Amino acid sequence: MAIKEVLRMGDARLLRVAEEVRDFDTRQLHALLADMRDTMQALDGAGLAAPQIGVNLRVVIFGVEKNPRYPDAEEVPQTVLINPRITLLTEEMEEDWEGCLSVPGLRGRVPRYTQLRYQGRDEYGVAIDRTVSGFHARVVQHECDHLDGILYPMRIKDLRNFGYTAVLFPDGGQQDD
Ligand code: NI
Repeated sequence: MAIKEVLRMGDARLLRVAEEVRDFDTRQLHALLADMRDTMQALDGAGLAAPQIGVNLRVVIFGVEKNPRYPDAEEVPQTVLINPRITLLTEEMEEDWEGCLSVPGLRGRVPRYTQLRYQGRDEYGVAIDRTVSGFHARVVQHECDHLDGILYPMRIKDLRNFGYTAVLFPDGGQQDD
């Protein structure tokens, strides 16, 4: 389909609460997902939410392949998640670095719950129900936040832990957003 422009922080469209998808397996929904996949791949992102390309629907995609350059990075299956519901399974939170295609060139340390269950549907309307932890749980929280108009910098507790990727990690080794 097409690589879309990703809206950047400051654009009011990123701050809206997105709407539920009502109809599954439609041409429009498949076209949206094709655009989201093309855009995420082109920018080498770990996830993307529909509002980031200006579509105000509760649709996210995410996934991290095993990459020999980052042997410590946990694998996350390629997932389409629509109308997600998150149930937290712990009060425990953990801080780690995050980036976002809507906040290019920056990184911040964000506290996230370490364990959760997520439910929703894929683009065909098939139910998804997973219990996850760690990095997978972090990615889900980051992407689902986009559906409620929340960008990760809003979650940073100490803004000293927010800065330019090239300055924070001069030796590289960090995925581009
Ligand atoms: Ni993001």
